[in-house]
Amino acid sequence: MAENENKPTGAGKNSFDLIDTEKFFQELDLQKGISFLDVASGRGAYSLAVSDIIGPQGNVFAVDLWAEGIEMLKAAAQERGFENITAFVSDVGRRIPVEDQSIDVCLIATALHDFVEDRIDQGVLDEVVRVIKPAGLLAVMEFKKIDGPPGPPIHIRLSPEDVADMLSPYGFKKEHAVDVGRTCCRRRTIQLSNIAK
Ligand SMILES: C[S@@+](CC[C@H](N)C(=O)[O-])C[C@H]1O[C@@H](n2cnc3c(N)ncnc32)[C@H](O)[C@@H]1O
Repeated sequence: MAENENKPTGAGKNSFDLIDTEKFFQELDLQKGISFLDVASGRGAYSLAVSDIIGPQGNVFAVDLWAEGIEMLKAAAQERGFENITAFVSDVGRRIPVEDQSIDVCLIATALHDFVEDRIDQGVLDEVVRVIKPAGLLAVMEFKKIDGPPGPPIHIRLSPEDVADMLSPYGFKKEHAVDVGRTCCRRRTIQLSNIAK
């Protein structure tokens, strides 16, 4: 973990408002009752939306090292009466506190490039492999490899090919990549790579 003023890398940043959420959730095709893991959830905008989609029989696990973000998520979940969300403060490069092979769909939204920069990507991916079901889906969202803002500098952005190359040694096979950015502004384009295990 790299820390700046005691905050994890990227703490406080949120990509949910930058994407076309309808398209994003169509792509993920989440079914009622599944188990969903939001790695580096931040304040949990994706977790909250998924909680509603998968319903009370489903489970959402949200993990982030930014304690303030996790507290915000817990408060929002309580306020909305969403009882299927479990949120943890944890360094995902060391431990994702969920059981082996328990996750149907895992999301890493705009965080994989930070894990590479912090050199914890191997630890994170080892943990993802441990917790995801053998036929589970890993969805990786990254800023398109073009100049921002918003988003990180272009040299640390990951293309769909970069993501696929990084994940293939872990047994993931690229299903497809799709642009889920809002179409109103070209620079806000974000890609989602669906990686099937
Ligand atoms: C750019 S934000 C993305 C937040 C959210 N996924 C989104 O797209 O809106 C990156 C997140 O990674 C978290 N993070 C950074 N290093 C981490 C680590 N080692 N363990 C867990 N979370 C970490 C930060 O606290 C931050 O919430």
